[in-house]
Amino acid sequence: MISFLLNNEITTIDKARADLTLLEYLREQQTLTGTKEGCASGDCGACTVVLAEVINSSEQTSSSLEYRAINSCVTFLSALHGKQLITVEHLPDGKDLHPVQQSLVEHHGSQCGFCTPGFIMSMFALYQKTQQPNREAVIQALSGNLCRCTGYRPIIDATLSACQNKSPDKFKQTEIQTVKQLNDINTHNVSTDNLLVPTSRLELAAAKTKFPEANVFAGSTDLALQVTQQLNSFDKLIALGEVPELNELVEQQQGLLIGAALPLGKIESSLLKHFPQLSELLWRFAATPIRNQASLGGNVANASPIGDMPPAMLALNAMINVDDGQQKRTIAANKFFLDYRKTALQKSEWIESIFIPYTSPTNVVRAYKISKRYEDDISAVCAVFNAQIIEGKVQRINSGFGGVAAIPATVPALNTQLIGKTWSNKETFELGNEILKQAFSPLDDVRASKTYRISMLANLWKRFWLETNHSTQNIETRVVHIPSISEEAPHA
Ligand SMILES: Cc1cc2nc3c(=O)[nH]c(=O)nc-3n(C[C@H](O)[C@H](O)[C@H](O)COP(=O)(O)OP(=O)(O)OC[C@H]3O[C@@H](n4cnc5c(N)ncnc54)[C@H](O)[C@@H]3O)c2cc1C
Ligand code: FES
Ligand code: FES
Repeated sequence: MISFLLNNEITTIDKARADLTLLEYLREQQTLTGTKEGCASGDCGACTVVLAEVINSSEQTSSSLEYRAINSCVTFLSALHGKQLITVEHLPDGKDLHPVQQSLVEHHGSQCGFCTPGFIMSMFALYQKTQQPNREAVIQALSGNLCRCTGYRPIIDATLSACQNKSPDKFKQTEIQTVKQLNDINTHNVSTDNLLVPTSRLELAAAKTKFPEANVFAGSTDLALQVTQQLNSFDKLIALGEVPELNELVEQQQGLLIGAALPLGKIESSLLKHFPQLSELLWRFAATPIRNQASLGGNVANASPIGDMPPAMLALNAMINVDDGQQKRTIAANKFFLDYRKTALQKSEWIESIFIPYTSPTNVVRAYKISKRYEDDISAVCAVFNAQIIEGKVQRINSGFGGVAAIPATVPALNTQLIGKTWSNKETFELGNEILKQAFSPLDDVRASKTYRISMLANLWKRFWLETNHSTQNIETRVVHIPSISEEAPHA
């Protein structure tokens, strides 16, 4: 039984289609039609809702609520368990609009109004989350919302104005009560008939044995597209979100251990603390509401040749920890991707966690993503380089590439042939260029032509060499400022 607060009403779901999306549930079963359907694929933000979750922080004596905007069109119902689901209908306080709504009115931020509820929910999540967001933080928060008529400036201004002049709203005033209601929700027997929600690795193994054909899912941002875009249906599904081992995040002595089901939004500050060079890749991964759901485990298990995290996992020598409930084993990232969308996972196994070893100060790491749109777009080409240079000589070069082969791939020859070479020598750069030219024969598709992908690969290699080469420091490459978490004001 899935139990949650729907706005401020305790709600339970005993029976439902396994693949019912949250958007369908809201619009068709709860007639909460303020939440709109645009693309049904996580791309437009019309369906944005907010989940509030109890956080028991070790630094704080009392629990608080953490708010995140998600796309209801690509979310299955198990994501609601134990949380408060807030829809646009619940924002006003009596006759008074919520401050973000009032601000949008005052800044003339809505014309036809179709996108407006979705924008409002993203604005609301930011309002709850940050104290004094800057313009870049606002743009990030709204990155998953499209507006086709108003234009973004008034919406951004409205968000800035509301968030920078905020006062305690009704949500803040009733926070203690909401935390209590959520804490009282029974965390056992979360499953419904069709949607299995195991709460331990043994229960997960049992569910997989009982229903060997049932798909597992974490954030469902990939799997739900099979329902909403390809019109497939799933009779049974197994959610990974309540299994404790898949939700751990541990900064170990040798590296970072990331539970496979944790959304990217929850791991970004630890990930960027240890691997700040991944910031562009992470901030340009889909958009905020998708990152609030999408897991690292799902991105790796999906094994898409254009996924953004597999190239990083390859270049950083990540280890994939897998489990079947009886036995755990570890697979190196460079042995994990076998063929197009085929991985080394056995049918009975799942990814439990991913371990990324810390790099040493002598490593230079860069991650590049080329896509048609800056935000909310899949890579045409992705390249991640991790070179260890000691006293000007190459000790090791690990790499990972997306968009250039049927699988996320590494190029071992870059390592074997460049070891011992002087990094600043033009010949070293040219040898690497030649190796990369021979390494791949990419496909033409809607995202990019083969020629474009090959020339991008060469350009990214050149960029890496220029950016990391002290003797060419003065050569400018395009630098884009991506706000880091630490630049945002601390949480309210
Ligand atoms: C609008 C939009 C934009 C996107 N943009 C990007 C982007 O910029 N870059 C990018 O790389 N991807 C992007 N994606 C794809 C998707 O968000 C990612 O692949 C995401 O990381 C998948 O994680 P998930 O938890 O949602 O996976 P799910 O949908 O839950 O699962 C995906 C697949 O992995 C399997 N799986 C999930 N977890 C596990 C596990 N622990 N063990 C074994 N199998 C598992 C599932 O069975 C399923 O087959 C985008 C998707 C959308 C809808
Ligand atoms: S309807 Fe477009 S993102 Fe959900
Ligand atoms: S106001 Fe019409 S799409 Fe945004």
